[in-house]
Amino acid sequence: VTKAIGVTVNGKGHELALPPKTPLLNVLRNDLELNGPKFGCGLGECGACTVLIDGVAARACTIPLAGVEGRHVTTLEGLGSEGAPDIVQRAFIEAQGAQCGYCLNGMIMMVKALLLRRPDAGVEEIKRELRYNLCRCGTHLEILESALLAAT
Ligand code: FES
Repeated sequence: VTKAIGVTVNGKGHELALPPKTPLLNVLRNDLELNGPKFGCGLGECGACTVLIDGVAARACTIPLAGVEGRHVTTLEGLGSEGAPDIVQRAFIEAQGAQCGYCLNGMIMMVKALLLRRPDAGVEEIKRELRYNLCRCGTHLEILESALLAAT
């Protein structure tokens, strides 16, 4: 019998009777139907699956469900509210940060985590924060511009 694991996602409590080693990303996408976090590599290397755990950015593909027991997970869907996007989401829309958009979940969540710690982060901090998030379209300049807009 699988013991239920309690976790709060986007402010809502869930009791999930799933194998404790199930990757958090699979739980979010398959069981909770939250498709903001993307599956890119499944190995913790691309950043497409990034979520916030207690306000800190983390790669949901490498974290087992048991690792977030009792904690607060925020996904892209948990930023802002219906009709009122978060400031980071607004900046990415305004500065047209997306090309194909697949990496944007990770970019936005990383920028959100950075701005929670350092609301006035500068260009070098933003670059450092995003250095391990991959964008295959090569839209890095627009992504940087979007992040800077959110930070000002
Ligand atoms: Fe998680 Fe690539 S899918 S880091």
